[in-house]
Amino acid sequence: MTDSDRHLTIVDHPLVQHKLTIMRDKDTPTAVFRQLLREISQLLAYEVTRHLPLAIKHIETPMREMDAPTLAGKKLALISILRAGNGLLDGVLELIPSARVGFVGLYRDEETLKPVQYYFKVPEGLDDRLVIVVDPMLATGNSSVAAVDLLKNAGATNIRFLCLLAAPEGIARMKEAHPDVPIVTAAVDEKLNEVGYIVPGLGDAGDRMFGTK
Ligand code: URA
Repeated sequence: MTDSDRHLTIVDHPLVQHKLTIMRDKDTPTAVFRQLLREISQLLAYEVTRHLPLAIKHIETPMREMDAPTLAGKKLALISILRAGNGLLDGVLELIPSARVGFVGLYRDEETLKPVQYYFKVPEGLDDRLVIVVDPMLATGNSSVAAVDLLKNAGATNIRFLCLLAAPEGIARMKEAHPDVPIVTAAVDEKLNEVGYIVPGLGDAGDRMFGTK
């Protein structure tokens, strides 16, 4: 499950699966949904950062000196795809407080059905950072592919995609467009419905975390 060369990693840890089941339940209240998303985001972050390089630092414990591992100072950027990405962002940021943060806003043009950018603000020096894109639902993949296109245009070369749920269609679309971007998810569901929602899924992640419906 943790091979860095793999395009797709499914985090099948029992804690993740248990929390995800509660989140899927339509009767789970907004506050619980949001809290669980925060908790799962940290468990998923564990996996998406598994390959961060380490360096050795010489320290002194109360007992003696030692050479101990420490993060190699590789700069990180977390990029949230608005608005649902923000539900994953906070938990990951808590684990990696020094990460820089960016936001990509896209909406779907109802005529062309193509994603249109309405906001783009990302940290400088993306070419020098590991960029972790967060969005809970990888559904059609249209907005994810568009967001990664924008980030590559802004210089990013080392990108990972972190989501909670994915549809086979979205994974295939991302793999075709961006085979160099590994995906970490808690589950791959059966399919998309006719309006692009993941089935069985959990509904609209933004509405469920912000209580907008
Ligand atoms: N976005 C969501 O919030 N839910 C889906 O099922 C698909 C896209």
